[in-house]
Amino acid sequence: MRVAVVGTGYVGLVSGACFADFGHVVTCVDKDAGKIERLKKGEIPIFEPGLDQLVASNAREDRLFFTTDPRDAIKTADAVFIAVGTPSRRGDGHADLSYVYAAAAEIADLVEGFTVVVTKSTVPVGTGDEIERIIRERRPDADVAVVSNPEFLREGAAIADFKRPDRIVVGTDDARARAVMQELYRPLSLNETPLLVVNRRTSELIKYAGNAFLAMKITFINEMADLCEAVGADVQQVARGIGLDNRIGSKFLNAGPGYGGSCFPKDTLALVRTATEYGSPVRLIETTVAVNDARKKAMAERVVAACGGAVAGKTIAVLGLTFKPNTDDMRDAPSLDIIPALQKAGASVRAFDPEGMHEASKMLSDVTFTQSPYDCVSGADCVVIITEWDQFRALDLDRVKTLVKSPTIVDLRNVYRPAEMAAKGFQYASIGRG
Ligand code: UDX
Repeated sequence: MRVAVVGTGYVGLVSGACFADFGHVVTCVDKDAGKIERLKKGEIPIFEPGLDQLVASNAREDRLFFTTDPRDAIKTADAVFIAVGTPSRRGDGHADLSYVYAAAAEIADLVEGFTVVVTKSTVPVGTGDEIERIIRERRPDADVAVVSNPEFLREGAAIADFKRPDRIVVGTDDARARAVMQELYRPLSLNETPLLVVNRRTSELIKYAGNAFLAMKITFINEMADLCEAVGADVQQVARGIGLDNRIGSKFLNAGPGYGGSCFPKDTLALVRTATEYGSPVRLIETTVAVNDARKKAMAERVVAACGGAVAGKTIAVLGLTFKPNTDDMRDAPSLDIIPALQKAGASVRAFDPEGMHEASKMLSDVTFTQSPYDCVSGADCVVIITEWDQFRALDLDRVKTLVKSPTIVDLRNVYRPAEMAAKGFQYASIGRG
C-alpha cells in the first residue's frame, strides 16, 4: 500500500517508519524544510530508542521517503495519515486543531481516486466530522473516507508499542476504508492483535478515555502514597496488593511526583473541556487534573523538609529532568515545577539527565548542567531523584557518599529501598513508605 503521513513529529515519524517496516511505501511530509533535510540525512529530531535504525534501514530499502512537497505523496496514497500537533490552546485547555484542519484542506486539494484520510493525532470527539466537512466543501468530487485511528504509543517504547499493540482501534462506518485499514495493519494479525472497528466518534473518545483512565490510576496511587505516609503503610505493597486483583491490574500503579508528558496533561484537560461543553461533566478527571497539578507543585516542599526546613544557600543535585526515562521530552515534566520552586527558596541547582539537558536548558534558568551523575552530586547538600533512568538505579552509593556535602537523598521514584539506604548512612526520603 502507499501511505502519506502529514506531520513528522513524534507520532508521524514513528508511525511512518513502522508502516514502512511492515512493507508499505511511506512518504512523510512536513512543512519544516530544515527538519526534512535532516531526516533525509538520517538525523532524527527526537530521541526514541531504535528509531534511527528503523528510519535508516527503510529509507535504504526505498520504502520511506521525506519531502516538503505533499503533491505526489497524497495523489498516489491509499491512505493519508494526519499526524500534526494538537497542542493545548493557550488559556482554555481546548486542543488547538488549526494544524489538523489546515492539513485536511491541503489533502482535499490533492487527493485522487479513493483515499482513506486517517487522523492519528489525538483529536476531540467530532473532529473527524469537521475534517470530512472541510474536505467535502473544498472538493465535492473527492472520493474519501475519513477514519479515526488513535495511537497509544508510549515515548521510549513507541516502536514496540506500534508493532505489538494491545489493540488497534479504527473508527469508520465505511466498508472500503475498513478494508484498507485491515490491509495496512495486516502484519499484526499474525500476532492476533484485536482490531476494533467502531464508529468514528467512539474511536475518538476511546483515546481520551484510555489516557484519562491511566492518568486517574496514577493519581489514585499517588494519593494512596500520601495516605501511606500518614498512617505508616507502604505504597508499593499496597500497589502490589491491589494490582494482583485482575480487575485492577498491576500496571500504572507506581507512585511518584505526578504525571507529565505530551499526552496525559493535555488529553485530560481536553476531555474535561469536551465533557463540559456537552453538558456531561467528568468530575473524576477534573479532580485528577487538579490533584496532579498540586502534587507537582508540592514536591519541592519534600526537598525543603528533607533539608531541615530551609534550602537557602544550599546546593541541590537533581538526577533526571525528563517527564520519564528513555526520552528527551520535557513537556510538563515535574522537574519544571520542582526546580524553579527550589531556586525561589534560595537553593542553587545542579542537574544531570542522560538525554534531556538540551531541552531542559531552554526551559530552566540558572541550572548548572553536569557531565555525569557523580559530577552532579559533588558538593551537594541534597540529592533529588526525579526521573528513574536506569543509570540512577544502580549508583555507586559509596562513591556518592564521598562526593556529597551531606548524605541526604530524596527519591521521588522509589528507586532505592529505605532499609538499604539507612544501612549506608543516608538520610533518605521517598514516596509513600511511611
Ligand atoms: C502515554 C500513554 O501511555 C500512551 O498510551 C499514549 O499514547 C500517550 O501518553 P507517555 O506520555 O509516553 O504515554 O508516557 P507514560 O509511560 O504513559 O507515562 C506518562 C506519565 O505518567 C509519566 O510522567 C510517568 O512518569 C507517569 N507514570 C506512569 C507514573 O507516575 N506512574 C506510573 O505507574 C506510570
